[in-house]
Amino acid sequence: MSRGLFITFEGSDGAGKSTQIQLAKEYLESIGIEPIMTREPGGTSISEKLRDILLDKENSEMSPIAEMMIYASARAQLVAEVIRPAIERGETVVCDRYIDSSIAYQGYGRGLGDIVEEVNRVAIDGVMPDITFFLDLDPAVGRSRIRSDEMDRLEQEKLDFHYRVYNGYKKVAEADPKRVAVIDASRTIEEISLEIRTILKEVCDRKGL
Ligand code: TYD
Repeated sequence: MSRGLFITFEGSDGAGKSTQIQLAKEYLESIGIEPIMTREPGGTSISEKLRDILLDKENSEMSPIAEMMIYASARAQLVAEVIRPAIERGETVVCDRYIDSSIAYQGYGRGLGDIVEEVNRVAIDGVMPDITFFLDLDPAVGRSRIRSDEMDRLEQEKLDFHYRVYNGYKKVAEADPKRVAVIDASRTIEEISLEIRTILKEVCDRKGL
């Protein structure tokens, strides 16, 4: 059996990822694919516990290196427990955030640079997405959609942090244009979803799904 499809969604906070992930799931189901839906940080019981530590506003003393490694640990567990077994069974996996989030948030946002990719290469153990949708939206617009009393530890960072993250995503997309589809997320939900569906169809056809 051939390896299943691995799809990831990326973007700044408030770019509309959750809505588009739900619509992508419905599209995949409409063409007969029941995807396994997961998210980062999280997706396994260990990784969800790490998520709580990462997003807890009380953990303001967390060092950038510790933060990077906890994200990478949560990811390593998710790959080992969920993503790799699923794609080896030939199933399709959709993940809300993956390695590119760490490169953008920890590498560019926190300024840790190339070490983030090295650590995460170990965490993902060769499992890279077939296609990544980067929802491209000005971080100021994205943040204005989130209520300030609902912001988690990362979301409450200053706007210049979010611009560094955003520029990091753009660099990732430029470096790997075959894998990363840059989706203009300033358009309507329907326009964005149509573009994502068109790309998904191409990828599924290519894979013979
Ligand atoms: P997410 O679950 O997308 O937040 P929400 O459900 O509130 O939209 O992601 C949680 C936060 O973690 C988000 O601000 C991005 C950040 N993050 C990183 O900094 N590095 C990473 O590797 C990942 C996966 C997420």
